[in-house]
Amino acid sequence: MLWLLLVAGHETTTNLIASGILALLTNPAELDRLRADRSLLPGAVEELLRYVNPLNHATDRFTLEPAEIGGVTIPAREWVLCVTSSANRDPDRFGDPDRLDVARDAGGHVAFGHGIHYCLGAPLARLEGEIAFGALFDRFPALSLAADPSSLRWRHSSLIHGLESLPVRLR
Ligand code: HEM
Repeated sequence: MLWLLLVAGHETTTNLIASGILALLTNPAELDRLRADRSLLPGAVEELLRYVNPLNHATDRFTLEPAEIGGVTIPAREWVLCVTSSANRDPDRFGDPDRLDVARDAGGHVAFGHGIHYCLGAPLARLEGEIAFGALFDRFPALSLAADPSSLRWRHSSLIHGLESLPVRLR
């Protein structure tokens, strides 16, 4: 339980913050909107959760009985991987899904999973995101990338969606 709380609670939030900063610095118009209207911050955290999706998939599921999803029948006793990074870019749910929009209604994203195993730490992660993004952009108004975005390396992991490092200039 300690391992779960520490790892699930640390890596995920770290990646939300780092990938979220990258997303905002590479979408400066969205960062300007956020800086101009801080009431957008809680919604922006939801949009960043949707957009950067720190975990690519939810906890493994198994079917107890046949289940039909999107016209496909999954037989009973099958292992199912629910790829939340794909669901969070579903154009039927989120218009223009590959665009970061800090004022979008990102409600219904599945970055924290869904159902009985829904993330235990979601309220804490949301709070940490709001505090971290708000403090970073307040304290370092000139925050900028110190590397070409195309040179950044993403971790090789089927589960974790995060950068190996994010070099930034604070001033
Ligand atoms: C941005 C940050 C976070 C993201 C994106 C995230 C994402 C997730 C996801 C996708 C699941 C699986 C849900 C499912 O299968 O339906 C999960 C489960 C879980 N998360 Fe998080 N999480 C975050 C932060 C945290 C924090 C801060 C904690 C604790 C301090 C935490 C503790 C847990 C635990 C204990 C579970 C297992 C819940 C269960 O199986 O019933 N997470 N999280």
